[in-house]
Amino acid sequence: MSDFVLVETADRVRTLTINRPDKLNALNADVMSALDSELDAAREDAGVGVVLVTGAGEKSFIAGADIGELAKLTPVGGREHARKGQAIVAKLESLGKPVIAAVNGYALGGGCELALACTIRIASENARFGQPEVKLGILPGYGGSQRLARLIGVGRAMQLCLTAEQIDAAEAWRIGLVNRVVPAGQAVAAAREMAKAILANGPVACRYVLDAIQRGLQMPLSEGLLLEATLFGLCAATSDMKEGMTAFLEKRPPRFTGH
Ligand code: COA
Repeated sequence: MSDFVLVETADRVRTLTINRPDKLNALNADVMSALDSELDAAREDAGVGVVLVTGAGEKSFIAGADIGELAKLTPVGGREHARKGQAIVAKLESLGKPVIAAVNGYALGGGCELALACTIRIASENARFGQPEVKLGILPGYGGSQRLARLIGVGRAMQLCLTAEQIDAAEAWRIGLVNRVVPAGQAVAAAREMAKAILANGPVACRYVLDAIQRGLQMPLSEGLLLEATLFGLCAATSDMKEGMTAFLEKRPPRFTGH
């Protein structure tokens, strides 16, 4: 385990804390490499049902990619840097388990991009979001230009990426960038509550929801609908479906097994 990403698991929820508080948790090569390994470990661990990502300290979630490292990039190196970063960030999206970002402060540049790749975002009141790359003469390189437009729409994504402005948690909620805003210091607790609610549901069904929405978004509507129907049919083969419906009819909580 690396000191750059702290790992804690409780009640099937694995919390990954980006831990470089003296640099506002900026993503340097060491942090990215540790995050990469921890995401692989979380995906492989059957005891982990939901992953939480947050930043150490109360001031920052992640204040972006490490500008000291970016400043040294060559053109070819820059492309490789972006492709590598994109691949690690994409793991959050394709983990096969819900990933909740508990955004506890600055989520700028790569920090905002990392949050965008998570399944759900919960922000504390003091969170601030932005894609300030153009101020540095670059554009978002960890997927921000693509995921932001898909999540909040082209016009708003253009505005954030072109002006480099920071928005607060209330505005982020208003435009659909975050799912919930909670008082300062409460983001991780609120994310754990949401994780608990997810974990009470049918695990196979939840996995298929991730597939239907994430993969379906990359397909024409007709293909996405076919995917949905196929996954719906597959649910009918699970004992969890029988259990969920029997429990409802018997007026008791379900006992899902993930099969
Ligand atoms: N890369 C490298 N170091 C960073 C960083 C980043 N993205 N963001 C913050 N830091 C470092 C600062 O250099 C400083 O280090 P130092 O104490 O060794 O000088 C430390 O973190 C604290 O940041 P500081 O700027 O002093 O805090 P602040 O409260 O005055 O400002 C921010 C906070 C987030 C507004 C400011 O740090 C900032 O603009 N960061 C860069 C954001 C950015 O452009 N991200 C996108 C990068 S592509």
